Amino acid sequence: MLIKVHPKRPERSIIAAAARILTRGGIVAFPTETVYGLGANAFDARAVRRIFAVKGRPRDNPLIVHIGRHTDLERVAYRISPLAKRLIDRFWPGPLTLILPKQRSLPRMVSGGRTTVAVRMPAHPVARALLTSVPFPIAAPSANRSGCPSPTRASHVLHDFGNRVELILDGGPTPLGIESTVIDLTTRPARLLRPGALPEETLTHLLPDLQIRTAKRGEAPKSPGLKYRHYAPETPLVLVTGNTARAIRIKLGRALRAAKKQEKRVGIMGSRELLRVLAGDATWTLGARHDLPRIARRLFDGMRELDTRKLDLIFAEGFPARGMGRAIMNRLRKAATRIL
Ligand code: TXA
Ligand code: MG
Repeated sequence: MLIKVHPKRPERSIIAAAARILTRGGIVAFPTETVYGLGANAFDARAVRRIFAVKGRPRDNPLIVHIGRHTDLERVAYRISPLAKRLIDRFWPGPLTLILPKQRSLPRMVSGGRTTVAVRMPAHPVARALLTSVPFPIAAPSANRSGCPSPTRASHVLHDFGNRVELILDGGPTPLGIESTVIDLTTRPARLLRPGALPEETLTHLLPDLQIRTAKRGEAPKSPGLKYRHYAPETPLVLVTGNTARAIRIKLGRALRAAKKQEKRVGIMGSRELLRVLAGDATWTLGARHDLPRIARRLFDGMRELDTRKLDLIFAEGFPARGMGRAIMNRLRKAATRIL
């Protein structure tokens, strides 16, 4: 069932209904400021197991535990370092996920059998209302079928799961549109495991020795989720990279003409500037090329939209990997079947 809820002032009766479902061991999809999450009581191993099953998620890929009160942190994690406290003070509630040592009382299932746990306190009013209306933390992966683009609208969740989840809270499009930044605080120095909605430049201010995990070939991935193909539309996606907007445009134009010659139906996902000069069978404008927050917000929506257009191929424009651009390029690389 899908119910609309006010994104800023969620109706109390609706939140109470959602809380009842969670308390009974059910699954509720809800908006966060990043993407929609698929939530269950983190202390209910059966409910958590259902999340893995419904999502088709590999058992070794751990979930993020969401909390609504600072006092809940110590129920799921321990050894909260002074650095962790500083990050929490500065960035919670918000799009920052911290990896910490896991409390043994939290079911192993949640963290894929690991001794660490991912925790975050979301800022979205609907997520906050839900989290403060139940006496337990909520384990929630992004509410998409495993491997598919993350859901930035309730309709995406409905598309992926239909009636297999008890309730979808529709709080409109999510404000940031890209997942939280994940930082591992169990190693020294701390490591960035997933670039996300909180840009690294903002974090390095507080964390001067933050190390960036560069995915070297053959290296065992640190964040278990990183080893799977991800965020991908069903249509093959070709990411076009280059040092300048102009270089990308020329390369993309050439690839586009070659595909047309083979009578392929081609979609283009790119900046307003690019789509002013190139045309495909379907297009999705991400935003002005400099407006990385807008591009991030429209990225997954574009992948899903173009997927409905019966295309043979989607060309995606690359962006500078700075600020929000780092998370955008991380998702595009993982979604791509080919990178030019
Ligand atoms: O913005 C977000 O983070 C969204 C919203 C719903 O909060 N959630 C989300 O969850 O993106 P999910 O499950 O799609 O991604 C969680 C990421 C995965 O890459 C997973 O491998 C990593 O966090 N992760 C979770 N627990 C971990 C742990 N103990 N150690 C290392 N990585 C972990
Ligand atoms: Mg996900």
